[in-house]
Amino acid sequence: MTTNFRLPGPTPLPPQVLAAMQREMIPHRGPAFQALYRDTLAMARDAHRTTSDVFIWPASGSAGWEAAIVNLLSPGEPVLAATCGDFGDRFARVGERFGLDVRRVEAPWGTAIEPAALREALARNPDVTAVFLTHNETSTAVTNPLPELAAEVRRHGALTIVDAVSSVGALPLEMDAWELDFVFSGSQKAWMCPPGLMIAAVGPRAWEAYERSRFPRFFWDLGDAKTAADRGMTVTTPPLTMLYAFHAALELLLDEGLERVWERHRRLGAIARDGVRSAGLQLFADPAHASDTVTAFVPPAGFSARDVLAALRERGVEAQGGQGAMTDSLVRIGHMGWAHEPEIRDAVAAVRGVAAAMMKETASTAR
Ligand SMILES: Cc1ncc(COP(=O)(O)O)c(C=O)c1O
Repeated sequence: MTTNFRLPGPTPLPPQVLAAMQREMIPHRGPAFQALYRDTLAMARDAHRTTSDVFIWPASGSAGWEAAIVNLLSPGEPVLAATCGDFGDRFARVGERFGLDVRRVEAPWGTAIEPAALREALARNPDVTAVFLTHNETSTAVTNPLPELAAEVRRHGALTIVDAVSSVGALPLEMDAWELDFVFSGSQKAWMCPPGLMIAAVGPRAWEAYERSRFPRFFWDLGDAKTAADRGMTVTTPPLTMLYAFHAALELLLDEGLERVWERHRRLGAIARDGVRSAGLQLFADPAHASDTVTAFVPPAGFSARDVLAALRERGVEAQGGQGAMTDSLVRIGHMGWAHEPEIRDAVAAVRGVAAAMMKETASTAR
């Protein structure tokens, strides 16, 4: 039985990406690399809908939090972290580790940050110079209303720093039109690549902030990355195999067309949520802000996420539990990146089968 790999990251790899990774090494300071890197960055700019800079590092998505902080801010600087789940919390905690003055605006897990709540928090904290937003809160399967939130931040005059780890490349994201200042992601989500790259897009206001920032930095230094990228280079030895993969994935994405990709994810999200509901299970996310890249549901009464995951595995579906305090009380099904209707319908059928069996067991023991 082939596994229906439905984690919300890492995600399945398209055959074109797997094939690209078979390529031999090339001189990383030669013209073939320069062509590859320039082409990759140009496609990555298109995928972010920006004409600003995009850079790539060998790292996982979490590095984006640190790269944003050490390049754009200074010790003690007041920032507002908008949190509605585990990843938003982590972003805030990274800020605290670096000695930022982190204020929070929080929404209960399963709900989104509402623009009015952000506006009020900004009014209460007029001195904040940056706002940390999580576009898609993977831990709760909630998509925050990013364009509206970014508009509030712009009105305030602060920087909009966006964790787009489980959104960009799958959900609509318009870096320039929405005036986002710094957007970062990891290769293993919607980008259809293995884990291993952190991708960051840097807008003009972020560059101004970079000039003011007083954190020491080396590996994440945006200025050094730009000097190198202008020559088609990276500062340190580039992760060649990962760049072959990302190049192939971006070609696939742009060939399909971003709008079509976004539409495909809208369809997949709807199929996943309809399937979970029709299985008699409770969706976790507020339906008004349910994510189209990941779906979270509550296990049937009397069962844990671990039970559901084990039962799904027996039916050939690999899903994931919750995070933090919800580790064993939520099940998450990923549908981002290289995901299409047949696999999602298959996963949904497995969820239905598992739920029916568990509910039957509960009914028979109650008798
Ligand atoms: C929204 C979000 N932010 C940050 C991360 C951290 O990324 P990584 O695990 O690649 O470091 C993840 C990973 O799932 C995520 O979903």
